[in-house]
Amino acid sequence: LSTTEVDLSAIEPGQTVTITWQKKPVFIRRRTEEEVAAARAVDLGELPDPQTDDERVKDGHAEWLVVLAACTHLGCIPKSDQGEYSGWFCPCHGSHYDTSGRIRKGPAPLNLLVPPYQFVSDTQILIG
Ligand code: FES
Repeated sequence: LSTTEVDLSAIEPGQTVTITWQKKPVFIRRRTEEEVAAARAVDLGELPDPQTDDERVKDGHAEWLVVLAACTHLGCIPKSDQGEYSGWFCPCHGSHYDTSGRIRKGPAPLNLLVPPYQFVSDTQILIG
C-alpha cells in the first residue's frame, strides 16, 4: 500500500509510537504543551537545518509530529525521548534531535524528514 491510515486516538500526550509506512518506520509523537512550547522557542539561528516548528506540523495540530524514523546521517533508527534536546538521540554516531525532530548536535546534516500526510479527522491521519 502506498498510503497508510493511522488512528491516533490511543496515543497519550508525551508518547511516541512507531508505525510502518511503505516498509519504513515512522515516528508519531503526541507532544506535550511543554514540548511544543520548547520547539517553538528555539532561535532559528541555532539550527543546522533551519525550519520553524510550524513548518514541521499541520496547522491546528501542533501536538502531533510525524517524522521518518531514520537518522539523516547514515540511516540508523534514533531513540525517542533521549539526547540533550529531549527529542531523539541516534546512538550510531551521536546525533541529537529536538522535540520538533530537528537536528541540533552531531554529524547528521538534516532534520528528521516529515513524510507527506494529512489529517482525515481529528484523530486519524493518512500518510502517503
Ligand atoms: Fe545517526 Fe550516524 S547514523 S549519527
